[in-house]
Amino acid sequence: MNTNNTGQHPQYSKLADIYDAVMEDVDYELWADFIDAIMLEHHLNPVDILELACGTGSVSLFLDELECYNVVGTDKSSQMIHKARQKNKDMLCNVKFEVMDFLDLQLDRTFDAAFSVFDSVNYLQNADEVLTFLNETKSVLRPGGLLIFDFTTPKNSIQAIDYLNNEEGYTEDNYRYFRKSSYDADNQLHENTFRIEKLADDQETVVQEFSEVHQQRIYTLQQMLDIIDQTTYNIRAKYSGFDFEEADDHSLRITMVLQCPSNQ
Ligand SMILES: C[S@@+](CC[C@H](N)C(=O)[O-])C[C@H]1O[C@@H](n2cnc3c(N)ncnc32)[C@H](O)[C@@H]1O
Repeated sequence: MNTNNTGQHPQYSKLADIYDAVMEDVDYELWADFIDAIMLEHHLNPVDILELACGTGSVSLFLDELECYNVVGTDKSSQMIHKARQKNKDMLCNVKFEVMDFLDLQLDRTFDAAFSVFDSVNYLQNADEVLTFLNETKSVLRPGGLLIFDFTTPKNSIQAIDYLNNEEGYTEDNYRYFRKSSYDADNQLHENTFRIEKLADDQETVVQEFSEVHQQRIYTLQQMLDIIDQTTYNIRAKYSGFDFEEADDHSLRITMVLQCPSNQ
């Protein structure tokens, strides 16, 4: 992949600089509270927890502030982890952030729960990759440990196109960004292209320009259940949105709660 200053860059390399600005309307505290509530509902005593695809670490940091968890946050993008470590320092938190592919977890310890939020699992391009993710995660969970992750559905992509496509914004540190978004319903592929411009102090002149193309595979509930069926996880719950309502074919975002057998 070309990584010069005007070409296409790897996912979440240049986007890392503006990620928190692009996500400023996302309520990460609510998301952390949701994960906290799920863990307490389905595990007797979750203490050691692992975030997969943590991005710039917002959820891990909110959970750390509850002062009842030991939190490790991991992401494939070194630029996102760099931002997460900066926030960890600024907020005087104790999360251990590591660069790591969730398809190849290199951890020398185990956890009571692992979680991944904000459709990171949709970056897995096919059923085999999702299966690898599920099994890889199981290998770092203790007996009875939880895996919690969300994914978005075709219905969500169809609805979201209207507001995601042609999105434009500015950040406080002189970046301008544009998002093009399209959904290929036949292949269940959602593509987002970000064009990111670094502006001079006049906030007009473009000093550098970057682009990133993000492809996500969009899974139906039934497709995800069929993949999970190939593992030894027990399905504890499937929630729709951010409440504890049961997910169904109409859900836009589904949070799965899986549990390792207690005698694994
Ligand atoms: C939509 S962002 C979500 C980030 C964060 N969870 C949040 O809520 O802000 C998707 C994240 O998934 C990460 N990611 C994608 N594929 C990955 C993989 N194979 N292993 C680990 N992280 C991955 C990206 O680097 C990116 O940070």
